[in-house]
Amino acid sequence: MTLNELSGHVAAEFQKHFGRPPRWIVAAPGRVNVIGEHTDYNDGFVLPMAIERYAVMAADSGSSSFTVYDTHFKESATIDVSGPVTKGQPKWSNYIRGVLAGFQDRGVKIPALDVAFMSTVPLGGGLSSSAALEVCTATLVEAATGQTIDPVEKALLAQKAEHDFAGVPCGIMDQFISTMGREGHLLLLDCRSRKTELVPMRDPSVELLVVNTNVKHELGSGEYAKRRAECEQAASILGVKSLRDATAGQLEKAKGKMSEVVYRRARHVIGEIERTTHAAEGIRNSNWPAVGQLMYASHYALRDDYEVSCQELDTVVEIAESIGVNGGVYGCRMTGGGFGGCCVALVKAGAVDAISKKIAAEYKKKTNIEAAIFGSRPASGATIIKG
Ligand code: GLA
Repeated sequence: MTLNELSGHVAAEFQKHFGRPPRWIVAAPGRVNVIGEHTDYNDGFVLPMAIERYAVMAADSGSSSFTVYDTHFKESATIDVSGPVTKGQPKWSNYIRGVLAGFQDRGVKIPALDVAFMSTVPLGGGLSSSAALEVCTATLVEAATGQTIDPVEKALLAQKAEHDFAGVPCGIMDQFISTMGREGHLLLLDCRSRKTELVPMRDPSVELLVVNTNVKHELGSGEYAKRRAECEQAASILGVKSLRDATAGQLEKAKGKMSEVVYRRARHVIGEIERTTHAAEGIRNSNWPAVGQLMYASHYALRDDYEVSCQELDTVVEIAESIGVNGGVYGCRMTGGGFGGCCVALVKAGAVDAISKKIAAEYKKKTNIEAAIFGSRPASGATIIKG
């Protein structure tokens, strides 16, 4: 569904449910991270792009509460905005509640609104469906109150919602790209300075394919916090503020002072930060074989050193490698937090159909699971479609 079709659909659902047309329509995309994994909370670089999958909200003024109707699950959340917004039910409403509370903290009065909501970002697939929902909510508040905030502030507000209301200690990547993505571009984000650079990706000869393994292993959330702690430990042993400040040489010298596991975690992060800036250079020069090799190297480090991959993700990467450059695949890696979710593959545009069929068939044969595969051009970040 294009964004136009999707927003038309949500507007029609609003009309059906609330009996009048919406006054505002807003959208925010999910993302796929091309490279730079588990580097954001180490002050490193990330290189994500917004994808053509969106959270969309259609809304009008309401009578008392902030009411959100999820048009897919046919479930409503009624959020009391007469005082400070608190955590509550249903569970998914906490992403919205957290954002509303963030605006209240900045002195913004949240209006009573009727909202219809739908998302085409696969849930729990590692494509930042929660960041899309948070940034979509923030964009709706901006549209409805006329009080816009600086994009960096907006992304940080959404990240805080995820920390405080969903209990996920995420970095800043997902909310930044959902806020600041630009059509035809990847976003090179320096997570220390929060400076962004748009890296054009318009070469029609290549495409990024997202391969959803359709598995999500539960251990993910606890392991994420554990990885963060291990990185902090490595930084403190190395005597640096964060792993961004450490070099591979320093790490080798200090190897004896840390456990083997902490050493490997740091080796991934230090290597990945370097790979990310090299990949951005490769993309600027349309050096696709080089970018592809960096993606594979990223995957191996995430699999062997950082240990956040899983059998299904590894299977997709192995299939991609077996197709090879001759078959049209430059590179492939797991993307996002890991423990399931998606891989991203850099492929020759002319071979997309053949590659998708081959990956789907082989993956099914090896795992007995149906993968979901789609291509996406780099999409734009959060937008006000109407209002
Ligand atoms: C999740 C987090 C991000 C980032 C990635 C790993 O998606 O939300 O902040 O840490 O994992 O790169």
